[in-house]
Amino acid sequence: MKTDAKIEFGDFQTPLALAREISSLLFQQGARPHTILEPTCGTGAFLVAAGEAFPKARLLGWDINPDYVAQAKSALVQSGAAKRASVGQQDFFAHDWEAELAGIRGSLLVVGNLPWVTNATVSGMGGSNLPAKENFQGFRGIEARTGKSNFDISEWMLIRLVRALRGREATIAILCKTATARKLLRFAWRNDGRIASASLRRIDAQKHFGASVDACLLLARTGEVGPVEAAVFDELTAKGRSTTLGLAGQNLVSDIRTYRRLKHLEGLCPYQWRSGLKHDCASVMELRQAKGKVLRNKLGEDVHIESDYLFPLLKCSDLANGRGVPVRFVIVTQRRVGGDTSIISKNAPRTWRYLNSHRKLFDARKSSIYSSRVPFALFGIGDYSFAPWKVALSGLHRKPRFALVGPVDGQPVMFDDTCYFLPFEDEREARVVAEVLNSQICQEFLASLTFTDSKRPFTVELLQRLNIRALAEAAGYSDDWIASRIQGARYAEPPVSLQAEFVMERPTSKA
Ligand SMILES: C[S@@+](CC[C@H](N)C(=O)[O-])C[C@H]1O[C@@H](n2cnc3c(N)ncnc32)[C@H](O)[C@@H]1O
Repeated sequence: MKTDAKIEFGDFQTPLALAREISSLLFQQGARPHTILEPTCGTGAFLVAAGEAFPKARLLGWDINPDYVAQAKSALVQSGAAKRASVGQQDFFAHDWEAELAGIRGSLLVVGNLPWVTNATVSGMGGSNLPAKENFQGFRGIEARTGKSNFDISEWMLIRLVRALRGREATIAILCKTATARKLLRFAWRNDGRIASASLRRIDAQKHFGASVDACLLLARTGEVGPVEAAVFDELTAKGRSTTLGLAGQNLVSDIRTYRRLKHLEGLCPYQWRSGLKHDCASVMELRQAKGKVLRNKLGEDVHIESDYLFPLLKCSDLANGRGVPVRFVIVTQRRVGGDTSIISKNAPRTWRYLNSHRKLFDARKSSIYSSRVPFALFGIGDYSFAPWKVALSGLHRKPRFALVGPVDGQPVMFDDTCYFLPFEDEREARVVAEVLNSQICQEFLASLTFTDSKRPFTVELLQRLNIRALAEAAGYSDDWIASRIQGARYAEPPVSLQAEFVMERPTSKA
């Protein structure tokens, strides 16, 4: 079991065998560094391995942990590389990387494995191994700049290094989460990080680190602006790439070549995608039918309430597995965000009593969005939630399966907040749109946009980029779709923002 210190410092020491494999890959790829820098060197596996692969290179290593610094020094003595090595204790966040890099002449290799921990974990455990806020706010384009959202410490460190290296030729070879590598590339490509070339080589993190994450070796050459794309290899030493990810407009796509072939399918969506209900109180709000048709909540209590506020519910696993008949119900306390809930006490007194008997659980909802709201407030609720017909998919599953969902016993079906959907008044239009979205060409286009290792491969933002008109045409449903559309349809609101995207071959210069 990992100790708190190991967790806070994202401590996963690289096995020497893996560091050697990576060093010999770098040698095969033509790297001949004068200087090798390991920014968080730990016990020194990369310094030793790179020292063996590049016997003339100078070795520089830093780590915050003095015991690791001592171990790295003695490992270098044993490997016979101590004379050309300089290893010391240093906090990455306090280090003047610009000054250090300016003092290094000749070809440079930055190699290693940065801490595997997120800011939320560090702050959640009361730790201080975090970048200073004011520095962090100085980073453009990084989504977590307010400090509110979660980010990987290694992402911050990689961006810090790329900024310090900007305009200077160097090779970066860093082990990290695949998602972190992508975020770094997106940041660098969008902010003139001068990446001449890049690739990702997947590694088996379970085998090497006992960690169940998608991880890779990020390889990048800095110094010049190159193409905004990176080859992805399924294994460290794979000969051929499996795909090429790249920047399309402001976003990364997983297969830039397919994307470019199909990008005419992207554009303004004539519908507004919606996310399902958010209530953060499933144990009370979600009910199942037990024996004798009695409703039971997740706390194991039999629930005897009126049907007025009860609606059938589908969850993401139902949609992904083709289970179209709901076996759950959800209590829908509002018709729109901010709606009055006290009216339930008059309309359905038993429901009101049931909700109030669990008031503590509602008040303990973690998300700050519920504070200063009416009791039992929901999000992701509006007129559209009550549309009779819907085309819905799971946001969490890799394969996009669009389900046509109609009313059950005359009631509209609800979804939870892991699902996305389009609302329709009419079955015919919903059916055509579901067919368009499930068509082979749409599935191919979606596969080119999404990263299957993301926690949530599909989002409203991504779905909103689907140009249904162009897709209907490409899939051979154009006439059906046009014929099915209802003039002035109730739920077909115009998109909230323009979604047109254009592929840029080069990032705009924002020095
Ligand atoms: C994932 S381990 C990798 C160690 C080494 N690079 C390797 O590949 O074996 C991350 C290392 O980062 C170090 N570290 C964590 N926070 C740091 C900080 N703020 N400054 C410098 N080193 C830090 C830890 O002590 C740990 O040795």
